[in-house]
Order: sequence, then C-alpha cells, then structure tokens
Amino acid sequence: MPAPPDSPRFRGGPASRRLSTLRRSLRASPVLGPLVAGAAYLPSRVVSMEWYRVMERAPGDADPAVDGLEVRRADRGDGPLFESIGKNTADEFERRLSDGDVAFVATLDGNPAGHLWFRSGAWDEGDVRYVLDEDDRWGYDLFVHPGACGRGVGPALNVAGLRQMAAREGATRMLSVVDVLNDASLASAARSGGVPRAELVVLSVGPWGAMREKDFGTGATRWRRLRRGGPTDYRVSRSRVGAAD
Ligand SMILES: CC(C)(COP(=O)(O)OP(=O)(O)OC[C@H]1O[C@@H](n2cnc3c(N)ncnc32)[C@H](O)[C@@H]1OP(=O)(O)O)[C@@H](O)C(=O)NCCC(=O)NCCS
Repeated sequence: MPAPPDSPRFRGGPASRRLSTLRRSLRASPVLGPLVAGAAYLPSRVVSMEWYRVMERAPGDADPAVDGLEVRRADRGDGPLFESIGKNTADEFERRLSDGDVAFVATLDGNPAGHLWFRSGAWDEGDVRYVLDEDDRWGYDLFVHPGACGRGVGPALNVAGLRQMAAREGATRMLSVVDVLNDASLASAARSGGVPRAELVVLSVGPWGAMREKDFGTGATRWRRLRRGGPTDYRVSRSRVGAAD
C-alpha cells in the first residue's frame, strides 16, 4: 500500500490536529461542537459526551464502482491480513469471528485496503444498546488503510458488504453510527447511500447519564435518562428503507 498522502489529515502535530478538530466542531454547531470536542480531553469516567448520527442503508442503495477493488467475506486465518491493514489485531479478529460477527475485506490492486464488520442482535455503544430486528445488521469498524483513503474503498465496503449480507443472510437494513465531527466518515457514509435516521448526543457526568435524540423521520427531539453501567435499549425506527410494507 502506498504511503499516506501528504494531506492535512496526516500532517501536523497534536496542536494543529486540535485546532482542526475545533474548526470542524464549530462548523458542525457553534455551541454543541466545541462542548463535544472539549469533553474528549476530560477523563471519561468524569465527563463524556458523544455526538453520533445513526445511518441507515438498504442493499442496492448505491453502487460506487472502484477500479481494481475486490470485496470478499473474511474467513478464519485472515487475522494477519486484518492486522496488516492497521486496526484489528489477529487475536481480536479470531475472537470476533468466534462470537459470530462477520467481516469483509477489501483489496485494491491485490493489496489489503480496508475492512468492515457486521453484528446481529444488538450493538452496545457506551450506555446505549441498539436493539436490532432479525433482518438488521449493525456495521462497525469500517476502516481504510491510510494509503488507500479517499479512493472510495469505504463506500464500496459498505455497499458490497451489505449486498452480500442480504444475499447470504436475508439482511434488509444496515445500521451504523458516525461521529458527527468526523468529516471523512460523514462523506463516506453519504457516498454509500447512507440515510441519516437520528442524531444522538450521549452525555455522562459522574454517575448520571442522559441522551438527546433527534429523530429525522418525525422531526421530534426528546431527552432520555440513561442508566450508567447497564445499557439502555434504543430501537432505531424504520424508514421506508428495507421496510416490508
Ligand atoms: C472514514 C473512512 C472509512 C472513509 O473511507 P474512504 O475510503 O477514505 O472514503 P472516501 O473515499 O469516500 O473518502 C471520504 C472522505 O474522506 C476524506 N479523505 C479521504 N482521504 C483523505 C486524505 N488522504 N486526506 C484528507 N481527507 C481525506 C475526504 O473528505 C473524502 O470526502 P470527499 O472526497 O467528499 O472530500 C476512512 O477514512 C477511515 O478508515 N478513517 C479512519 C477510521 C474511521 O474514522 N472510521 C469510521 C468509523 S465511523
């Protein structure tokens, strides 16, 4: 895989990265953005604040063709290959497969370029448990090798992975969360046909937890109290994406 490109994303020390996070957060929201970005510098057992967009996509929503790219389902023994991409360890890879998760790997001109994982049943993210329908799949750990970023590998993994999950397991909907302050993830998610369903701000201060939910379907915003340490169930309402009716 080529070296990471000389872009602002890969250049600069901690100070310039902090400055660009602050700029991004101000762009996202002049009040909430800096609060969320600032909370990342506090110990998470004292204060934590996460701002996610819940994305939904259906098989066949988009087809971002990429020259030289292949996406295939990963199998036992692919641990070292996943490790070479730079995010998962080989042990982590084997453990997740044993737990029943499914992974896809992308190669670009024969070189390992990225991966995407799927889970069924439920997904825990901090104090929130996303409860899934039988034909829902949770997409997580979408990761592209720095040398392959910006070439459509992420969107292609989303699309090809979900299409294969639909063909093999009857999945009708993929859900995932993206960090609202991560421009690359938002652009990549939109390019693969992702539709934002809701926006969540998950806040915890010491023993207290709360979540603000904005449902893009109904336009309603509401606050919910969260139990700390034992997740609170959250079900993503269905849009017409993948709906049976
Ligand atoms: C987020 C990620 C999966 C996107 O995959 P990708 O294959 O790069 O996706 P795309 O090719 O569609 O590029 C998406 C955006 O990334 C940004 N980007 C990609 N490569 C970049 C680079 N070298 N420098 C700066 N920005 C870059 C661009 O803004 C691009 O959008 P644009 O073309 O509309 O400007 C990938 O960048 C990644 O693995 N990042 C680190 C892990 C992560 O954040 N995972 C997401 C978990 S929610």
